[in-house]
Amino acid sequence: MWGGGFAEGPDELLWRFTVDHSDRRLLLDDVTGSLAHVAMLGAAGLLSPGEVEALTRGLKAIEAEAGAGSFSFKDSDEDVHSAVERRLGELVGEVAGKLHTGRSRNDQVALDLRLYLRRSAEERVAQLRGFALTMAAAAESVGETVVAGYTHLQQAQAVPLAHHLLAYASAALRDIERFEDLGRRLDVSPLGAGALGGSSLPLDPDRSARLLGMANRFVNSMDAVAARDHVSEYAFACAQALVHLSRLAEECVLWTTTEFGWITFSDALTTGSSAMPHKKNPDIAELTRGRAAIAIGHLTGLMGLQKGLPMTYNRDLQEDKAALFAIDDALAGALEAMGALIRSAEFHPSLPDSSVTALDLAEALVERGVPFREAHEAVGALVASLIADGRTLSAATTEDLDAVDLRFEPADLALTEPVESVRRRRSTGGASFASVREQLRTLRDRLG
Ligand code: ARG
Repeated sequence: MWGGGFAEGPDELLWRFTVDHSDRRLLLDDVTGSLAHVAMLGAAGLLSPGEVEALTRGLKAIEAEAGAGSFSFKDSDEDVHSAVERRLGELVGEVAGKLHTGRSRNDQVALDLRLYLRRSAEERVAQLRGFALTMAAAAESVGETVVAGYTHLQQAQAVPLAHHLLAYASAALRDIERFEDLGRRLDVSPLGAGALGGSSLPLDPDRSARLLGMANRFVNSMDAVAARDHVSEYAFACAQALVHLSRLAEECVLWTTTEFGWITFSDALTTGSSAMPHKKNPDIAELTRGRAAIAIGHLTGLMGLQKGLPMTYNRDLQEDKAALFAIDDALAGALEAMGALIRSAEFHPSLPDSSVTALDLAEALVERGVPFREAHEAVGALVASLIADGRTLSAATTEDLDAVDLRFEPADLALTEPVESVRRRRSTGGASFASVREQLRTLRDRLG
């Protein structure tokens, strides 16, 4: 492909060190880009109708091979672009040499990545929608089950388990928005930028963009081949979604412990211990947590890769693909596996300690005009005195209430029931049954 000015062929070491086959995944996108490029060259009068026909026929054949998984790469193919051009030559002969007219692998690889990301973003969005619906179904399945909601991993307030599960659906909706939003910046064709400065030929980048169904073309050819911020952005969207999944994974691990005992996963989705016959391990959740960690590393790697590069394309950028694909795969796999894990889950959480109603007792005083700080102080004293004689809030008597504040009423004792606490919850978006119903409605409206 580039040997003309070289006195000797590439050293085996050079090949081994510089060739990275991870770009083979771009095969279909590479052909898509070339088909548009050929059509543009034809319209610009740079290829005859016969040449356009021959090149298009060859590229379509390669597309079919790629689709059927029968395209065969050779060790001598430096990258996916050279492989396609080599194969095109085998199929249509010498005219294949015209494919690269007005193009460089620099604008080519930039385009391929954008096309790949556009496709994958759609797939990830579809998966995230499915995952959000899985969380919604789990929330529905637990009905009005009440659990402790935690801050600092200390029981804090009583909440519907459904509300807790729907927190992950809310996060998934933002993850979806992130992928949808970055689509605008992906939708820019770099084709026509050439190596870095465009061409003396009458190329028509607008037409290429239109043919590719892309909303815009590049405005600066140097930026077009050098930019990878859309890759970082996509990687961030993946890494952040993985971080959300990882938090859920952590809770799955926690909830499946003997100590918590909130959740049981199906045997088919847990693994056994080679040593301890009684164990069922939540490996899917643990590996999700682990892969999120590695994905964060790849995201950092991608940003580091760009930070010291002089304009424009530098071979360093080849490394973007392995990292990007690894992150993308990690998210695709984790969404699939965590979705299945949640669908298999049986929830049987324990009731919270009655101390989670402490805020409700304080708010009973607030409703009678007591400043919140005084109410907080009174309930704090009540809890402390109960703990001192080995009791919890639900064991409090009217005397206990009167001892800390005479503005308490006997009926307030009913507030120390965690379920009652949730029933009385009124604030918009709060942890109430009404809010759960509202969230489920909104989710289904948005996701269909
Ligand atoms: N394999 C290269 C990459 O992935 C393609 C672009 C190569 N361009 C070049 N001038 N060597 O980045």
